[in-house]
Amino acid sequence: MEIIATAKEMQRRSEQLRLEGKKIAFVPTMGYLHKGHLTLMHEGKKRGDVLIVSIFVNPTQFGPGEDYERYPRDMKRDLALLKGVGVDICFTPPSQDMYPDGFQTCVEVEQVTKNLCGTSRPGHFRGVTTVVAKLFNIVKPHLAIFGEKDYQQLIAIKQMARDLNMDIEVIGIPTIRESDGLAMSSRNTYLTAKERKEALSLYRSLLKGKELFLQGQRSAAKILTEITGIIKEQKSATIDYVKICDVHTLEDIEEIKGEAIIALAVKIGKTRLLDNIILKEE
Ligand code: PAF
Repeated sequence: MEIIATAKEMQRRSEQLRLEGKKIAFVPTMGYLHKGHLTLMHEGKKRGDVLIVSIFVNPTQFGPGEDYERYPRDMKRDLALLKGVGVDICFTPPSQDMYPDGFQTCVEVEQVTKNLCGTSRPGHFRGVTTVVAKLFNIVKPHLAIFGEKDYQQLIAIKQMARDLNMDIEVIGIPTIRESDGLAMSSRNTYLTAKERKEALSLYRSLLKGKELFLQGQRSAAKILTEITGIIKEQKSATIDYVKICDVHTLEDIEEIKGEAIIALAVKIGKTRLLDNIILKEE
């Protein structure tokens, strides 16, 4: 596996691969890899001739007082995992390369980033779309793969690619869960054993919401009452939001018609976790 540590060198290498006619698949990450990331990479291996993975903990998507400093990092372990999957190139840019002195340009997707995490983490999605646009310009992929656990991020990146005529296919992959249902996330490592047990209520509540929908319930308020009831039984849980939204616009829905998403963000102790489930007639 090649390791490339500067934007200039990565651009040069990608240009060379393109001239050789290679299809470049790209999985951007912030490292501390888990099975969810590895699933995205397996998909990338299937769809491209060359798989490039970036590892960069992006400071601009963390707000003041969030966990940028203590975000888990373990480059040695990550590189071993990447080799195991058969990743061709790992791109590990230094901060100074991504945000040089005098940096002043941002990418902001205006509408789909307003609700959900956009309300509780102002500036977060601007940080995400800016760094992903930069990574796209450096890595020059034909396709890029993201997890559906961060559903709003996926929709924002798809919108950015469409709006800015980026010639890149943005692909979403269903959430990978632990055997007990907990959605995989690098932040799960913050949970104590007791908190981890309580965190299972998130997926349990989403499954309950889906069950009610499949039984014919179409009132978002009624489904949300059941879901929040399950989560509030947990001592360590503080709900940031639980909402039912349109799958494309991410605006709140009152009466579910066709497809919808139940999306939630809940703090378990000090750890903010995200999860979601799609509601669709079966
Ligand atoms: O999902 C993530 O890990 C990050 O938000 C991403 C897409 C790598 C941008 O920093």
